[in-house]
Amino acid sequence: MAKIAVLGYGTIGSGVAEVLRVNHDLIAEKAGEEIEIKYILDLRDFPGDPLEDKVVHDFDVIANDPEVSVVVEAMGGVEPAFTFAKQALLAGKHFATSNKALIAARGADLFEIANEKGLNVMFEASVGGGIPIIRPIFSSLTADDILEISGILNGTTNYMMTKMAEEGSDFDDVLKDAQQKGYAEADPTADIEGHDACRKIAILTSLVCGKQVDFEEIHTEGITHISATDIQYAKAMGRAIKLLAMSRKAEHGYAAMVAPFMLKSSHPLFSVKDVFNAVFVNGNVLGEAMFYGAGAGKLPTASAVVADVVDIVRHKGAGNQMGWSKEKAVLADEKELSFAYFVRTTVDQAAVEKVFGEVEYVSAGIEGEIAFVTPVMDGAAFAAALDQLDGVLQCIRMD
Ligand code: HSE
Repeated sequence: MAKIAVLGYGTIGSGVAEVLRVNHDLIAEKAGEEIEIKYILDLRDFPGDPLEDKVVHDFDVIANDPEVSVVVEAMGGVEPAFTFAKQALLAGKHFATSNKALIAARGADLFEIANEKGLNVMFEASVGGGIPIIRPIFSSLTADDILEISGILNGTTNYMMTKMAEEGSDFDDVLKDAQQKGYAEADPTADIEGHDACRKIAILTSLVCGKQVDFEEIHTEGITHISATDIQYAKAMGRAIKLLAMSRKAEHGYAAMVAPFMLKSSHPLFSVKDVFNAVFVNGNVLGEAMFYGAGAGKLPTASAVVADVVDIVRHKGAGNQMGWSKEKAVLADEKELSFAYFVRTTVDQAAVEKVFGEVEYVSAGIEGEIAFVTPVMDGAAFAAALDQLDGVLQCIRMD
């Protein structure tokens, strides 16, 4: 019997307990032995919960118990998660987590300790919820030069954009709904400002280049400035607005960014709706591949966490150590990437054409402004042109 400890008994931690209970027998069969939760670490007590007697408030109880072979972390945030992860590894325990903030910020430190100690650090659930994407990138796509990884990596914002576009829902109402459904982060600013997607594309880019990407260097925009009017224009063009996380190979390395995009209907990510996530990968020999599934929520995320635990137990820790080195990855400037841009402005067509030359105008019956699509241009050229245009109300990249 493998005994594990779960740190954090919130949405994901309680989901891990549920998955282990509901699929107990088949998990035991796949792992080669039963998996039992010995401890749950949380600040709170859970009177009436079937696992209430497992709750402890002191991490040392877990670190000092030699029976615990795997520590599962579902607390979120960098601290105290990092301190506990480090202590767990130093005490000889494998570590599995759904925490993208932790892996994006301190992953390389944990992989180093794990490598020295012959232990595993697993983090499949940290990107894309229940979608298998970490293992495929680390293990299955190693024959390719990865030219691009782009994805809808935040379920909350995708759910919000879908409801706003299809049902005309109000931003705040639909955010509350996403929180109630357990999709949003404890502080949903991380979702709507793009920080969550930023950590996730940093993890995928680190995996691809084998070096530590500094997520603070990734250009990040959220969806808070997207209005019902923008959605109206997108619909008029047969497009959808999606928050994309993107990493594309440019001349000087990977250029990574998180930003809203207006996607055409033939784009592989156009039809990804609600809480679903999808990751599009383009490899130089593979060509294109897509990974699609439930990107957030209690059970899909817990499914990926428990699968990591099964992997660890099944291989008795001798499985692949995934991860990357501590060496810093040098990112290219995202302004090297070229797109057409959708722009709304209060100035007239003559002023627009003086700056951008020939553009394509878009009509959605909105008065007091004009909207247009620029030719494809790189980010630096677009920024320079935009500086010369007055009355700008909005600009959104197109793909
Ligand atoms: N808040 C995240 C999301 C949870 O909405 O995608 C999954 O990482």
